[in-house]
This record gives sequence, C-alpha cells and structure tokens, in this order.
Amino acid sequence: MKHIHPVFDQILGREDKERMLEQRGCALWFTGLSGSGKTTIARHVEQALAGKGVLTQVLDGDNIRTGINNNLGFGEEDRVENIRRIAEVTKLFVHCGIVTLNCFISPTREMRQMAKDIIGADDFVEVFVDTSLEECEARDVKGLYRKARAGEIPNFTGIHEDFEAPINSDLHLKTEKKTVNHCVKEVLGFLDLRSRL
Ligand code: PPS
Ligand code: ADP
Ligand code: MG
Repeated sequence: MKHIHPVFDQILGREDKERMLEQRGCALWFTGLSGSGKTTIARHVEQALAGKGVLTQVLDGDNIRTGINNNLGFGEEDRVENIRRIAEVTKLFVHCGIVTLNCFISPTREMRQMAKDIIGADDFVEVFVDTSLEECEARDVKGLYRKARAGEIPNFTGIHEDFEAPINSDLHLKTEKKTVNHCVKEVLGFLDLRSRL
C-alpha cells in the first residue's frame, strides 16, 4: 500500500492551515459607490501586507464578474446572487487562512448582512469607502457615470438606484478628506489593533 505521510492521514482543518501560513484568515469587505476607491485602497493594502509576508486574495469585479459570476447583471436579484456567491467563495479562502480583500459595491445593508452571515461575523470586517456621489461622478474613473447619465447603462448605483450607507462599519474611510496612503494606513492600523493577522 502507498505510504501516506501521517500529516495527511487526517483532514486538515483551518487551524492547521493558519499555522502553516502563520497568519489568521479574515475578510476585509470594502463597500462604496463605483469610483469611491475600493479597488485602489485594496490593492495598496495588498501590497503593504505582501511586504509583511501576509498572503491575500483580492476579489473584485475583474476576477468575479468575468468568471464565476459572468451570468449575472445588475438587477436587484442578480446583485444579491453576486454577493451570495462571493461570500461563499470568500469563506473558503478565509478558512484556508487567507486574508481576502473584497471590493464590491454591495449597495444594500441586507446584502452586506448576508455576506457577514455567510462568512461569519468574527471573520468579517466591513470597510466603508465613503465618497459622495458628486465626487465619484467628478472622478468618473471608467467613464461609467457619463454613460449612465446618457442612458447607456441601466440600474447604475447612485444614479438609478440607491446606495445605502453602512451605519456601523468597522472602518469608515473618508476619501475626500484623506489621501490613498492615509486610508491604507487606517486599514493596516485597524488590523494591527485587532491582532487580526
Ligand atoms: S454589486 O452591486 O456589488 O453587485 O456590484 P459589483 O459586483 O461590485 O460590480 C460593480 C462594478 O461593475 C461595474 N458596473 C456597474 N456598477 C454599478 N451599477 C451598474 N449598473 C454597473 N454596470 C457596470 C462598475 O465598474 C463597478 O465596479 P467599481 O469598481 O465599483 O467601479
Ligand atoms: P472603485 O473600485 O470603488 O470603483 P477605484 O479605486 O477604481 O474605485 O477609483 C477610485 C479613484 O479615486 C482612483 O482614481 C483614485 O486614485 C482616486 N482617489 C482619490 N483619493 C482617494 C482615496 N483617498 N482613496 C482611494 N481612492 C482615491
Ligand atoms: Mg473597483
């Protein structure tokens, strides 16, 4: 019979994997309007954590809405399903000890609560990337606001549909008053303070 190393004799649990990585898994859930700064801040946080040897995974429209969720649009029902699947995938990463950086508008309190319930409250950090609609529209990073105003994109958050601001987020980043670097430092400071890693 093929020799099986004793460590593989048993099912590896979350704690075993966290011990291997020497870190604790958790999900940083960035929520905010399109153009608020979710992707920018998450990417910088990922760079900073990489410098500390922390393994992360950014989950964003680029790797979710073009892949696992490429059959979903932006109607209410599809957005709920989008967030549900993302939360389930996130849970798998977190249980491997990985720190996920989730960048999704997740426009309603109900959607964010669902994500928190799926991932587990202890592993979920809600980061409100707080930028006014006026500022996001002025930035118009991808030209989507212009298209939405011109009627070329339906169901656009902030224009045709509400964004419900979080009431009790774990972190509240006011991007119109603070630089990207400052916002990144706030996230890192929070993680240190809570000994999340
Ligand atoms: S949601 O509400 O959480 O399901 O949305 P999300 O998965 O984060 O996808 C948002 C990105 O898709 C682009 N996009 C739109 N956003 C809002 N409303 C509409 N109708 C829309 N159509 C396309 C947009 O680029 C969002 O990415 P970010 O990075 O937020 O700009
Ligand atoms: P989102 O992913 O939320 O749609 P992006 O990160 O793509 O947003 O775009 C945010 C834009 O705002 C970028 O061009 C970024 O340089 C700019 N910006 C200005 N100040 C900040 C800040 N404090 N935090 C994050 N982004 C900022
Ligand atoms: Mg983005």
